[in-house]
Amino acid sequence: IPGHAGLAVVADAPAPAERPAERLTVVYGSQTGNSKRVAEKLAGKAEAAGLTVRLLRAGAYPLRELAQERYLAVVISSQGEGDPPDDAIGFMEFIAGKRAPKLPQLKFAVMGLGDSSYAKYCAVSRDLDARLAELGATRFAALGEADVDFEAPAATWSQGALEAVKQALSVPATSARPVSPLHAVSAPPLHSREKPFAAEVLENQRIVSRDSDRDVRHLELSLEGSGLRYAAGDAIGVWPTNPPVLVDQWLSALKLDGSREVTHEGKRLPLSRWLGQERDITRLTRPLLAAHAALSGNHDLQRLLEPDHKADFAALLESHQPIDLLRDVPAAWDAEQLVAALRPMTPRLYSIASSPKLVGQDEVHLTVAVVEYERHGSKHFGAASTFLAATGDEARVPVFIEENDRFRLPADGSRDVIMIGPGTGIAPFRAFVQERQATGASGRNWLFFGNRHFSQDFLYQVEWQEALRNGSLHRLDLAFSRDQAEKLYVQQRLREKGRELYAWLSEGAHLYVCGDSAHMAKDVHEALLDVASVHGGLSADDAKAWLADLLQQGRYARDVY
Ligand code: 2AM
Repeated sequence: IPGHAGLAVVADAPAPAERPAERLTVVYGSQTGNSKRVAEKLAGKAEAAGLTVRLLRAGAYPLRELAQERYLAVVISSQGEGDPPDDAIGFMEFIAGKRAPKLPQLKFAVMGLGDSSYAKYCAVSRDLDARLAELGATRFAALGEADVDFEAPAATWSQGALEAVKQALSVPATSARPVSPLHAVSAPPLHSREKPFAAEVLENQRIVSRDSDRDVRHLELSLEGSGLRYAAGDAIGVWPTNPPVLVDQWLSALKLDGSREVTHEGKRLPLSRWLGQERDITRLTRPLLAAHAALSGNHDLQRLLEPDHKADFAALLESHQPIDLLRDVPAAWDAEQLVAALRPMTPRLYSIASSPKLVGQDEVHLTVAVVEYERHGSKHFGAASTFLAATGDEARVPVFIEENDRFRLPADGSRDVIMIGPGTGIAPFRAFVQERQATGASGRNWLFFGNRHFSQDFLYQVEWQEALRNGSLHRLDLAFSRDQAEKLYVQQRLREKGRELYAWLSEGAHLYVCGDSAHMAKDVHEALLDVASVHGGLSADDAKAWLADLLQQGRYARDVY
């Protein structure tokens, strides 16, 4: 972890010798790395303030120690449907479950990260906070919550939580430790989320056929001179520029002048620049909808915000972009108000489609589905994909590397791997197969891929055929959903090949799933349970325990979004 080299924090092993009474435990449940970053920062600050700290991912937390824990801070994110990150499922289940111990000794604080464009905003952290209190624990800091733009609220919460623990543990001001020497020598990385690298576009190629109804692109970016390093399984963060046509649509719908200078939080820029670069204008959020409803005085919109219209509200968020609303329901926004009401731009993450061991650290590949579709009579855009699709030789793409250390090939190259990646979920598996080829791993590689049509959307078809020939891919199973009357998905292939699949897993294979979390990952999970029942003779409960155990062991990893 860059910048944390000197942190005297235990990564995985419990440290029973330490006295829990004088120690702060920081636990994170992170899917894309944001909660992890917040937790790391808190742990670093607490340590610098003289506290004894241990920092753990939720999956590594020794649950039997919970009943002795005295000071616990948890930073945890909620996924789309209000689900915990994979790594935190066991932690959450244990605490929610009947066997959770009473916790009168525990002082705790929870920080939740979420996305207010989903209906079940911060559900996991809210549940956790309520449940810990129910078990008799007391809060040393109030529940914190942060939306996509989480940095500032997270910093405020961390500050408050840290002050409270310092007071409780009565750390004298003088005990603040000087930064450890290791800290001092590990220079901060040149480029990061906050300081992205301007990457040159080496290649931007459409990889679906001309008659495909969608556009999927293979991009190659140069990291030369950036100092950035990545591993197969990591993601790349992209700071997009919003589509200029969309910015124009906003300006004309709101009858605002793009050249008008707007000052917000000390920054002064023309409105068109705010909308183009600094603000998220492609996703509808509750606060934006609420502000628009209030400004327009539209009763239908206002009703949607009431508690008994949750389903309609969620449906609206799903199906509309802000521009639809601005067009259909006029409201008198002024430029300052607008900039203040919109969320800051956030980077988008793409699973990296190349292995540095094969292509080198100076190059990184991406597989990008371009989000552009007609709805409600207007075109909907995905900010980053539209931006990336339009890049040419001259373009520079602001990027950073987002480490994903839960999505890694087995350290032991003789282990078999099973990869399930329909659609652009294929990306990290291109990296994995490249990596296994580059390292000469002796284990077998089995890929399940699905998409709409064989003749149009068989992503990287030529490469897979070559990999089968040269022995870096051993099995390939395909599910093209729209080439026949009935839908055919990867999970049907999993069931058909269930006997062998179960045998591979019984012999220690690692299983990976990448792609859509809302439907695909859930259906694949169900299919895996069926496979265990049918071919392993397991009861429904035992099948669940078997899969939970694979997750716990890190042999079932999901990179889903
Ligand atoms: P569809 O769009 O024809 O329904 C990549 O998007 C592929 O995943 C497509 O073939 C898509 O099929 C398919 N897909 C859609 N829903 C799915 C699900 N629940 N499980 C697995 N694959 C799914």
